[in-house]
Amino acid sequence: MLLSACTLLAIESSCDETSASVLKDGKILSNIVATQSIHEQYGGVVPELASREHQKNIVPVVDLALKTAQIELDNLDAIAFTRGPGLLGALLVGSSFAKSLAWAKKIPLIEVQHIQAHVLAHFIGEDKPTFPFLCLTVSGGHTQIVLVKDYLEMEILGETQDDAVGEAFDKTAKIMGLPYPGGALIDKYAKEGNPLAFPFPIVEMPHLDFSFSGIKTAFLNFLNNNQNKNQHFIQENIHDICASIQHTLIQILIKKLKKAIKQTQIKQVAIAGGVSANSGLRQVLKEEGEKNNWKVFIPDFEYCTDNAAMIAITAYFKYQKKMFVSQNVSPLPRMEWE
Ligand code: KG4
Ligand code: ZN
Repeated sequence: MLLSACTLLAIESSCDETSASVLKDGKILSNIVATQSIHEQYGGVVPELASREHQKNIVPVVDLALKTAQIELDNLDAIAFTRGPGLLGALLVGSSFAKSLAWAKKIPLIEVQHIQAHVLAHFIGEDKPTFPFLCLTVSGGHTQIVLVKDYLEMEILGETQDDAVGEAFDKTAKIMGLPYPGGALIDKYAKEGNPLAFPFPIVEMPHLDFSFSGIKTAFLNFLNNNQNKNQHFIQENIHDICASIQHTLIQILIKKLKKAIKQTQIKQVAIAGGVSANSGLRQVLKEEGEKNNWKVFIPDFEYCTDNAAMIAITAYFKYQKKMFVSQNVSPLPRMEWE
């Protein structure tokens, strides 16, 4: 594809991160992320509070993104925003802001599907995959194996039938009394634990689909049984418990990924989404890649969890095809990809 020059501002507000990014000719010039810590005390994202925080953050975040990039509003060729999936109220803040700015500046508006953007985050850096490749997309809301045929042509080969793997991390962390979101904390404690200390059952799912709700229940029962015998069980074994549950969740993911590679014969593998920040998953994927001769793509930490740079790079590919939307567009909390 011959790519034409453009300068874009992208906005991400689908969950609890308010983010803005400026892209010029395919290069990210800024990526500002304001994480909403207000949700920690509630043990999960409170949708109403998320919308209010986005409203507070959006102007300073956009302002800082433009200043960091040294780009004026008048230099922009288009505005991009996350249309979905996500929380309706949260999406409304970003989309309304983007629409108003595009209208005021009389420039095109580009909608972006959040999960597709997680996959395309791999085109931000220097080490880019070639098509086709497989992407294991693992976040707080999604767990999918995606066949990526082209920038905007993707097929879901398998996905979770219940909880997402990020949810499994966060819910098991919550059961242990850790603050939200607990995924990164499990990762931290797991580093000093024995992954084989406590075995957890793995539910077999057909095809390339996943299920994570059973493991949550098994984990709860396991902790209750042990706490009944020793009320300090969690404190005394936190490292081994975290290493064991993380190991089990990673095994579930890797097993399906291997199956997808065998089925498609595609040996380029990428990971994307918040859980791709997990050091255990990154390590296992690297090792499996070396052992099995796969080419593995692991995003920089900055582009794993929610960020507007991934929205900007996706919008860049859409800009090339003039895939613009009208001012009538409204957010889609359950948006599929086109
Ligand atoms: O992609 P993301 O920022 O938001 C969604 O689109 O959902 O993913 C957030 C998820 C949360 O479940 C969080 O606990 C998880 O990513 N996460 C991690 C780590 N860092 C973030 N899970 C395991 N290990 C980590 N280091
Ligand atoms: Zn995400």
